[in-house]
Amino acid sequence: VNHLLGIKYLKEEDIQLIFETADQFKEVINRPIKKVPSLRDITIANLFFENSTRTKLSFELAEKRLSADVINFSASQSSVKKGETLIDTVNNILSMKVDMIVMRHPNPGAGVFLSKNVSASIINAGDGAHEHPTQALLDSYSIRERLGDVAGKNVVIVGDILHSRVALSNIFALKLQGANVKVCGPKTLLPKYIESLGVKVETDLRKALEWCDVANMLRVQNERMDISYFPSTREYAQQYGVTKTLLDSLDKEIVIMHPGPINRGVEITSDVADSKQSIILNQVENGVAVRMAVIYLLASKIKQ
Ligand code: CP
Repeated sequence: VNHLLGIKYLKEEDIQLIFETADQFKEVINRPIKKVPSLRDITIANLFFENSTRTKLSFELAEKRLSADVINFSASQSSVKKGETLIDTVNNILSMKVDMIVMRHPNPGAGVFLSKNVSASIINAGDGAHEHPTQALLDSYSIRERLGDVAGKNVVIVGDILHSRVALSNIFALKLQGANVKVCGPKTLLPKYIESLGVKVETDLRKALEWCDVANMLRVQNERMDISYFPSTREYAQQYGVTKTLLDSLDKEIVIMHPGPINRGVEITSDVADSKQSIILNQVENGVAVRMAVIYLLASKIKQ
């Protein structure tokens, strides 16, 4: 397969190969010269139809560290505003001899749709509330780095599971690697099908934290909600926000993760986000090496 459209299309050995390749690139990007010449013959277009800080910059940096040629496309400054379709837009970009498309799009399934309609390798950089595969890969890679392994670890994903592509991709990735997964949040933000994915539900945050080795704290995605959900932001912070006092009252030290962007004081307080237990910036750092690995492995199939 020449695409990375979602974790649900991967096998456990695919993830291990990505991690082993990322280990080598992590070593490269910690050298004084952070670049390898591997992809001098590859051109990659980054298409962002939705806002991004981490994913967009991380992909661009990963591509440049691999010596690929890179072009960036932002929908808000493009002819999409004049009504050009997604397929026309991408086919025009591909006619400039582009080999690979990295795309973030607000519609679930946009990457799969594109992969069936154009001739290029597609990487999904987040499609609506569906999947965010490279985020889940960098999350698992960061757990592996901090705790030695993902298999057998208890991981709770806390917050707005209903609207979260990070939650879905993480559930698929963690289950594939043999982690035990729970989700925790208000019932209004938990999809009805969630237990069919093999995860348990815990609505009490303290109990979830007492159980877990790792807590992945998600942002409440107000931009994906048509109406104001219960609970309000203040109620959410009181019931599902992680504070230093709460963490210190547990009888063990758990690892705190967050995909960003953080609503400080809502899902986690600043003293938690910036604490030694937090690996939030390690996640961002690892994102470059993991994306280098994904791009490198896909590009090696294009070259075959
Ligand atoms: N984690 C993540 O996808 O962040 P951005 O939306 O800033 O890319």
